Amino acid sequence: MSTATRIIGAPVDRLEGDSKVRGQALYAAEHPVDGPVHAHLVQSTIARGRITAIDTGAALAEPGVLDVVTHQNAPVLSSTEDAELAILQSPEVGYRGQPVAVVLAESSENARAAAEFVRVSYEEAGHDVVLRPERTDLVRPERVNGGFETDDGRGDFDAALAESEVVHDALYSTPQEHHVAMEPHATTAAWSEGELTVYDSTQGVHWVRDALTGLLGIDRENIHVIAPHVGGGFGSKGPVHAHVVAAVLAAQRVQPRPVKLALTRRQVFQLGGHRAATFQRVRLGADSDGQLTAVGNDVVAQTARIKEFAEQAGVPARMMYAAPNRRTSHRLEELDIPVPTWMRAPGECPGMFALETAMDEMAIACGLDPVEFRILNDPDTDPETGRPYSSRNLVACLREGAHRFGWADRAPAPRSRREGPFLVGVGVAASTYPVNSMPGTRAGIQARPDGRYRVQVGAADIGTGAWTALTQIAADALGTDLDRITLSIGDTDLPWASGAGGSSGITCWGSAIVDAARRLREKLPEGGPVPEEGISAIGRIPDNPYRGRFAMHSFGAQFAEVRVHRDTGEVQVPRMLGIFAAGRIINAKTGASQLLGGMTMGLSMALHEKAHVDPRFGHVLNQDLAQYHVASCADVKDIEVDWIEEDDPYVNPMGSKGIGEIGIVGAAAAVDNAVHHATGVRIRDLPITPDRLV
Ligand code: MOS
Repeated sequence: MSTATRIIGAPVDRLEGDSKVRGQALYAAEHPVDGPVHAHLVQSTIARGRITAIDTGAALAEPGVLDVVTHQNAPVLSSTEDAELAILQSPEVGYRGQPVAVVLAESSENARAAAEFVRVSYEEAGHDVVLRPERTDLVRPERVNGGFETDDGRGDFDAALAESEVVHDALYSTPQEHHVAMEPHATTAAWSEGELTVYDSTQGVHWVRDALTGLLGIDRENIHVIAPHVGGGFGSKGPVHAHVVAAVLAAQRVQPRPVKLALTRRQVFQLGGHRAATFQRVRLGADSDGQLTAVGNDVVAQTARIKEFAEQAGVPARMMYAAPNRRTSHRLEELDIPVPTWMRAPGECPGMFALETAMDEMAIACGLDPVEFRILNDPDTDPETGRPYSSRNLVACLREGAHRFGWADRAPAPRSRREGPFLVGVGVAASTYPVNSMPGTRAGIQARPDGRYRVQVGAADIGTGAWTALTQIAADALGTDLDRITLSIGDTDLPWASGAGGSSGITCWGSAIVDAARRLREKLPEGGPVPEEGISAIGRIPDNPYRGRFAMHSFGAQFAEVRVHRDTGEVQVPRMLGIFAAGRIINAKTGASQLLGGMTMGLSMALHEKAHVDPRFGHVLNQDLAQYHVASCADVKDIEVDWIEEDDPYVNPMGSKGIGEIGIVGAAAAVDNAVHHATGVRIRDLPITPDRLV
């Protein structure tokens, strides 16, 4: 094995870790700019209606205030098709918290204080913010997120269900959840002679530029977006949101001075998007041996009236288990709420909570062990497409996990184990995530005469370790050492790249880098010197001929142990174990962190997270970290992750499958199934709060 091949998979420390710890890594609101103006948003206090008057006089008279931008004086956008982004263009209000004015001042304190003095009058229309699955005016979207079909089916689902010897039919729900990344969304924008520079906290600089190109109607060459470091995104910073437009429009008013706009934590709850609440009716049929005959999931999710987002929660039921009959569907309820968005494993995460809880119930109904029940129903080929899998190692994950977790010691009956005042139980759930790829990424590599390489790709590191993993991939592809690589990412001056989303970053950016390295090797003189100006090559994602021939997914098995206090209903999770099969792991350290983080987020989803929406006013009541509880260190005990060796030559040149999202998938179901095992109480609606267990 050469040095280079050992670079892939090595637990290399984050290359930018030192600069982050020292505070030298710059985030969107921190880039030094000349004479910044500080912005604070004024937001609608009604959920639906129109502005009848705005009085900015008192705000303008406050110290340090330079301007108040409203729909009456804001620059006009070239495109107003996207109602989430077309802010300050009309008096219409589509959700509570929508930006209706931007106060610009010499300090952020001045701006925030003056924002209180902007007087907005409204004509209110009726609003509805609460998802009710029984409504009759549900909308059937054309497609659901990810471009999937809205409905699908196979065989005769109704007949198969009617004839099944064991039938399970239950309604599950997942609440509206929020991302709460450590770095709140922030944008610094500056105009100079028709050119726009934007420092943004984003999962994709080119995505931001492309969106702004359409909104502003100017050449993309005149927009420069920069994001070297991002403090978490989880999907929230994938699509552009309204505050970016607010900063850009405000900066146009005070140009050439730059405008800094950092959202408060509460504003992130209103403007950063959220995971749509879902109701899912899961129906399973099986024969007396426990072989599934029918699998169905009918999903109702919330969306915004102003712009559609369709959470694809029914999609994983199409491919998880072998059953000759299937039906999945998605319907939406349009509400007067902010637009839902991607949140870590959109679709799979809520969808697998419902399916994997139902699978636990079905295993019990069939008298089978939940691990063995899943293995019994593991398909040989993809049930949705009929194609073989490029690799599918769910069974290996379940067996390895069961062995390491001590699953064999589990007494099948609920309430079998007590420790003092605690009821103790263990649960399992399966996990999956597709191997996504997006078109268009290019990467450049330049060989330097000193034996070093400059690698350039407009990628994003949102805290995942992409800086390090991409450097490892480049070193491997070039057959050189890590310290010979100088990587540049997070800048639209670099070749176009898709963003960090759908766990596709490494697949897209890495494939383009490997292709660039191949092209560069073809150009490099055999052993000869590299000329002073260097030698460059541009790579792109090659067409993958295997995409149409194989189904490509990662899999995993999640195990959880819980202790439920007999008197208080408090749930503790002393240990979790996740075993994944996700192809080759590029960096064993940052990769493990991704999986750990995902499982922690799943634990948090299981026990804590829920946005409480006030039906009277249409806002989230618990819109800060004091009240929207996410798992803290004290909630998380022993979480262990590992993966099985999986050699998949079909997915991409690295053999990697993507690990950003699979860690959260199934984790909440594993906890929930463990709670049932401990207590005998079945919770079908997240989160699992103590009041429901006493
Ligand atoms: Mo992921 S929710 O696509 O960032």
